[in-house]
Amino acid sequence: MTLADARGEITSSGNAKSVEAFETALAQLHSYCGDPVATIDAALAEDPDFVMGHVLRAEVHVTLWERSVLPEIESSLARLTELDNKANARERAHTAAIRDWAAGDWEGFRARLDRLLAEHPRDGLALQIGHLSDFYHGDRDNLRNRIARALPAWSRETPGYGFALGMLAFGQEECGDYVHAEESGRRAIELEPDDCWAQHAIAHVMEMQARHAEGIAFMESRQDHWAQEDNAFAFHNWWHTALYYLDEGDAEKAIALYDSKIRPSGSEIQLEMLDATAMLWRLHLQDIDVGTRWEELAATYDKTADDGFYAFNDMHAMMNYVATGRAESAARLLGAVERAAQAAGTNAGMTRAVGLPVVRAIEAFGREAYGEAVDLLMPVRYRAHAFGGSHAQRDILHRTVIEAALRDGQFPLAHALTIERTAQKPHCPFSWRLRRRAAAGLPDETIH
Ligand SMILES: [Fe+2]
Repeated sequence: MTLADARGEITSSGNAKSVEAFETALAQLHSYCGDPVATIDAALAEDPDFVMGHVLRAEVHVTLWERSVLPEIESSLARLTELDNKANARERAHTAAIRDWAAGDWEGFRARLDRLLAEHPRDGLALQIGHLSDFYHGDRDNLRNRIARALPAWSRETPGYGFALGMLAFGQEECGDYVHAEESGRRAIELEPDDCWAQHAIAHVMEMQARHAEGIAFMESRQDHWAQEDNAFAFHNWWHTALYYLDEGDAEKAIALYDSKIRPSGSEIQLEMLDATAMLWRLHLQDIDVGTRWEELAATYDKTADDGFYAFNDMHAMMNYVATGRAESAARLLGAVERAAQAAGTNAGMTRAVGLPVVRAIEAFGREAYGEAVDLLMPVRYRAHAFGGSHAQRDILHRTVIEAALRDGQFPLAHALTIERTAQKPHCPFSWRLRRRAAAGLPDETIH
């Protein structure tokens, strides 16, 4: 007899202990607390033929979206291939999706999870993994709609419902629907107080609306719910907190959070490295001295200079190389990115459309060729969502192009771009500081 999971999805397993371990691991994945891979590995040691265990293991690795996870995913895929006759149709659909991802067909991966969810909207694993993969493609519509399509099949009683609402909240925020995003996010944390993804969705709303003081209070007062010792996502929520401080003009506090919370231990996980980079680059654009912090981070990036695996990561690597004058690493990375643009797979398209011009622009910025950086960034800044990340993360491109225009003496352009910024965020002190700098370069009669 085969057993269903807690949401009623049939598995090919008849082992109640294994299905229970799957639920524990899925809850850990939803909350980012604990180690879902360790949980599922313990179950697989007892029950090596547990198909959904191998699926979960592979898909948790996928969520890191970096080259280093490929061997683990390949080994899970090998087991899933052996177990193909045992698996049911839904499990085989997961396996086919994972196979696409491992082959670099990330669009195929996302599409398969979409089709799977159309038939199995209560597959909580497919829902979260699909949601995260939409994030890595900057696909704001599907970030919201993938969840919206599935939710009618869920109710408050469905295990994980609160977490699904947290995902909806983030999708709504990325679509610019801040009112509904905040509503969904607050409902989510009412149901699941420790939903750090819903907390994060609300943090994004406050970032986009420049509600900095409120954002700081919201994050700091609820630390017990998202910054637990074993919360694997806390670094990113701290990054958001630091961003509020920075844009309010408190760089010292932002740097203190960098040291204690964003990059406390020299992690080699690209997701963590890129948040550290994103904070240092914002400080770098403001000419704020960060001591030896760039050196430590850049030395870690040196290990993957030939990567070219994911365009969004490549941009952050280049920031390190130019900030530390690493010409050799920069040249290696540029070569890797140029090769990636010619390769097969989803990243090639991302790299051609966005990654390559952006990496070239950052490299030009490093050479103080600011006019070149402006020329490279202007055409891509509105299509940069194609290489993934959130609006808040991609704001780094808008900040960079404005700074490059200022340094190149292109004051009318810099001023126009800062007007755009203050129109969107009238309460953001940082944006007004930029606008005043741009205005100072203009003849008095042209300032408006
Ligand atoms: Fe974020």
